[in-house]
Amino acid sequence: MSSGIILWFTGLSGAGKSTLSQELVRYFEDNNDRVELLDGDEVRTNLSKGLGFSKEDRDTNIRRIGYVARLLARNGVVTITAAISPYRDIREEIKAQALREGTHFVEIYANASLNALIERDVKGLYRKALSGDISHFTGVSDPYEHPLNPDVEVKTDSESVQESVRRILNYLHNRGYLESTT
Ligand code: ADX
Repeated sequence: MSSGIILWFTGLSGAGKSTLSQELVRYFEDNNDRVELLDGDEVRTNLSKGLGFSKEDRDTNIRRIGYVARLLARNGVVTITAAISPYRDIREEIKAQALREGTHFVEIYANASLNALIERDVKGLYRKALSGDISHFTGVSDPYEHPLNPDVEVKTDSESVQESVRRILNYLHNRGYLESTT
């Protein structure tokens, strides 16, 4: 049976999904594991080019990411995804498909308060969303359905990147997932 693994980040734009993913990629590379990152922003410039931010388009984007993630994971690649993935039903759908295939699925909730994200506003998108220049912006004018029972929750507005990474690695270690990737 395959023992692949998908580390699935979910959280608002700017909550640290990409940053934490990149740190984890470094960890697995240092460990000589095969690892791939499917980052929302990057996927939207190639695999999902042309898709917008309606529920239908987001679902399509997330299903594509889920499909590729499952292919990679079942071939022994540690697969990390970093897309907002705002809808619970689609996340659950992908999780169920992965589990059916014998792939571990770890949902990681990058949780930061909207206020903190608006204040930080690294990409300047929250300002545009609040002024109405961007419509259907997740958390401001579009839904975000947070996980009800995430495997790991990192509070990225109050803990450091290193603390969050350690929390995630501790979880993986305690579940015995790190050994199986070497
Ligand atoms: S998802 O909803 O389909 O999972 P994804 O993670 O791929 O989203 O892309 C989110 C990124 O697109 C954000 O980090 C931001 O840079 C950009 N973006 C542009 N418009 C929007 C919008 N309306 N809502 C959310 N993110 C947007």
